[in-house]
Amino acid sequence: MSIRTDVSSAADVERLFSEIHRVYGRLDVLINNVGTTIRKPTVHFTEDEWDFIYDTNVKSMFLCARAAGKWMLKQRAGSVVNISSILGTGGVSRRLPYASSKAAVDSFTRTLACEWALDGIRVNAVAPGYIRTDGLNQAFVAGILKEDDMVRRTPQARLGTPENIADAVLFLCSSKADYITGTVLYVDGGIFRVPGSGASAFFPS
Ligand SMILES: NC(=O)c1ccc[n+]([C@@H]2O[C@H](COP(=O)([O-])OP(=O)(O)OC[C@H]3O[C@@H](n4cnc5c(N)ncnc54)[C@H](O)[C@@H]3O)[C@@H](O)[C@H]2O)c1
Repeated sequence: MSIRTDVSSAADVERLFSEIHRVYGRLDVLINNVGTTIRKPTVHFTEDEWDFIYDTNVKSMFLCARAAGKWMLKQRAGSVVNISSILGTGGVSRRLPYASSKAAVDSFTRTLACEWALDGIRVNAVAPGYIRTDGLNQAFVAGILKEDDMVRRTPQARLGTPENIADAVLFLCSSKADYITGTVLYVDGGIFRVPGSGASAFFPS
């Protein structure tokens, strides 16, 4: 089943989750994957742009976790995985709302993990490095990012694939991760293990 939904809209999200419950009767897994960014100097960001990025990246997680949590708490079981970013940890220029919103995702993950730990619900995050998705391909075509630079600075010397992220999410949702909650799992080819390779190195001002 797929239902077109704006996950930053409370009404849309409530409609989505009541439909899921009507059709399936329970909910085992929630993956909060949606994210967006705008790249520009901080003083040029408008209030609407700031709100748009935070609504898309953070409020959507709250709305979906609130709706899913109602069912998961009744079941006393469930797994939530939030998609963060290495930029939530590393400093980076001209990405203030995006990077700070991803730091909020990490905190959201730890906080909700504590709240729901005794209810049988695990909450974790995956922080991707540079993954060849539609969004990244568009940034290459537009000349916003340079593929060669990213590859050169990644210890594994290649971009990640969506499957790399899916495998990490699958692991965190599985019983093999039964004692893991409140963690942020980096899936980044080793970028943050290189001294001095903070994310800002990828985005010179
Ligand atoms: N690709 C990377 O290298 C990379 C790196 C770090 C983190 N991430 C994170 O991974 C996640 C996925 O990124 P991606 O590269 O696949 O992005 P993408 O831009 O290719 O895809 C994002 C998807 O979210 C959908 N979307 C946007 N706003 C929405 C809304 N309000 N309601 C419903 N759907 C909405 C878009 O239609 C699109 O299908 C994001 O959270 C992103 O921040 C990606």
